[in-house]
Amino acid sequence: MKTITFVTQKGGTGKSTLAISLAVAAEEAGHKAYVLDLDPQGSARNWYSRREAAAPPVDTTTAAQLPTALAGLKKHGYDYIVIDTAGQDTPATAAAMQVADLCLIPVRPSIMDIEAAKPTVASLLRLSKPFAFVLNHCPAGRNMRITDAGRALNTMGHLAEPAFVTRADHVDAAALGQGVTERDPTGKAAKEVRLLLEWIGKRTEGARHAA
Ligand SMILES: Nc1ncnc2c1ncn2[C@@H]1O[C@H](COP(=O)(O)OP(=O)(O)OP(=O)(O)O)[C@@H](O)[C@H]1O
Ligand SMILES: [Mg+2]
Repeated sequence: MKTITFVTQKGGTGKSTLAISLAVAAEEAGHKAYVLDLDPQGSARNWYSRREAAAPPVDTTTAAQLPTALAGLKKHGYDYIVIDTAGQDTPATAAAMQVADLCLIPVRPSIMDIEAAKPTVASLLRLSKPFAFVLNHCPAGRNMRITDAGRALNTMGHLAEPAFVTRADHVDAAALGQGVTERDPTGKAAKEVRLLLEWIGKRTEGARHAA
């Protein structure tokens, strides 16, 4: 079982958006996925209430109950647990970092957003947790902003692939309780999410063997 936590104290970077589409893509790829929503804002939980399909299930839990919840999900044969967290430092966020096999930090390609990710990086380094940045909200096409941001993030840690472009599919899919791979299976947003799933698969191979 792989536990992937989307985390950053910076709000609005795409934690919930990427978490739900990643979980849907994991299901489509034949994995059993589950989303834990640790953000009181409830973006993932609300998404699930708009969703027609039952999988991937979305549930909420607390910092204290998280280890027990994960043990139960492991027993039920889940392959991917995707945890969505609040855009602030809370006990639930700390717990979600603690239990993760990999933490993903969505970051916009801007200096202010890169700087805002630093407290989260410091927490993850203290915990010795594997983490990677995911560039999100990128302009389409080749762009110096993406190159520069990628370079800066590479000096702070790993950079996941690919970079996510700002695409209407994310907004439309969220409104319909879908993942972007359902909204438009052949679209560019869908391709980006599948590539991220693939990247995570490679990055966490060791964790799977250890599970
Ligand atoms: N790649 C993208 N393309 C288009 N819109 C996006 C993309 N990623 C995120 N968004 C939009 O940006 C907004 C913020 O995204 P989201 O709610 O996922 O961020 P968050 O990090 O979960 O925020 P919070 O810290 O408040 O929980 C939402 O309106 C979402 O639809
Ligand atoms: Mg959110």
